[in-house]
Amino acid sequence: MNREDFPMLEKDIVYFDNGATTLKPRVVVLKMDEYMQMYTSNIHRGDYDAAIKTNQAYDGVRKIVSEFVNCSEDEVIFTSGTTMSLNTVVFGYMKKHLKKGDEVIISKAEHASNVLPWMKLSEDIGIVIKYAPLNDNMELTVENIEKTITEKTKVISIAHVSNVIGDVRDIKAIGKICKERGILFNVDGAQSVPHMKVDFRDANIDFLSFSGHKMCGPTGVGVLVVKSKLMEDMDPLCYGGGMNQTFEATGDYELKTGPSKFEAGTPPIAEVIGLGEAIKYLEKIGLDNIHKHEVKLKKLLVKELEKIPNIILYNTNSDSGILSFNIDSVFAQDSSVYLNNYNIYVRAGNHCAKILKDEMKIKNTVRVSMYFYNNEEDVLKLVDVLKRSEDIFRVVI
Ligand code: ALA
Repeated sequence: MNREDFPMLEKDIVYFDNGATTLKPRVVVLKMDEYMQMYTSNIHRGDYDAAIKTNQAYDGVRKIVSEFVNCSEDEVIFTSGTTMSLNTVVFGYMKKHLKKGDEVIISKAEHASNVLPWMKLSEDIGIVIKYAPLNDNMELTVENIEKTITEKTKVISIAHVSNVIGDVRDIKAIGKICKERGILFNVDGAQSVPHMKVDFRDANIDFLSFSGHKMCGPTGVGVLVVKSKLMEDMDPLCYGGGMNQTFEATGDYELKTGPSKFEAGTPPIAEVIGLGEAIKYLEKIGLDNIHKHEVKLKKLLVKELEKIPNIILYNTNSDSGILSFNIDSVFAQDSSVYLNNYNIYVRAGNHCAKILKDEMKIKNTVRVSMYFYNNEEDVLKLVDVLKRSEDIFRVVI
């Protein structure tokens, strides 16, 4: 779908690394270009025409985001990306509200950004990290999360979609449990928000993080959605201009309320404007259409790869466009170098989910991650090249 919107696809490449970052459609680049060339100015500081236009463009994106994930505008904080969003949750909110012995449930399939901040918080104040077990398919089920909950559980913090396994966690059911048990629900939406409809309110999410660059937007911008009443009690990680009401030589200061409190300094204005355009673009295609298309392609890929004896597949069941595999006895990175020889772009390695190896019993995989602009031809080209992978040693070495 929409391949003509992506100049990079005019080259003969198969881009299957959408979990890492997506391609950018022309409309997003042009929207950012327009701001940079025609009305560059800072936000919330100037009284001249260009500055007013910039304010409207920047603040208007809060509304676009709020309608996209179903929250209110004053719950939308712009950050530099999912990593900063998750760090803000852990060090801005949790550090203030959790205490020694409180338990946080994550899984071993989480990305570093949803593991390391918790490890640091554990070191700082003594919270306890509990890992909900994965099932035999490496999926995180509601049942296994429920089994891990104790009276000390204060937070469940999980990715909606794992970036390696691609399993779609049932956030609606988990959110319901959180609500019933008074547990905070922190969702890493980096791999889901770009690919399927995510409803902040409906899933009873307390904190939702995602990145612009994984959804046709630019790098350097992301979102943290926080329930208003929790945002009031959250501290910023960064202090400076734009986030204070007043400060005096006596040391007295007052911060702004709402999202501005978390957006110190000049924010990534062009990037926020680009993100808004990317969301409008995705909504035109339709998130349900995007999800259906990816799952259809993934099923085709699984069906074809299952016919090749030396391919080991790891997550054939998951309801997303992510598939991890290895060529038998071949180091994952060598496989990706091999595929690059045929202009097929994938990611190989541990995918920043470094403790997943405890469960998978394998450290590195090759990951295909799809988006709406991939097509059957892409899938069949990959299959064809993998069929000839006995060639690999000649090509790679
Ligand atoms: N988190 C990104 C990925 O999964 C970079 O590739």
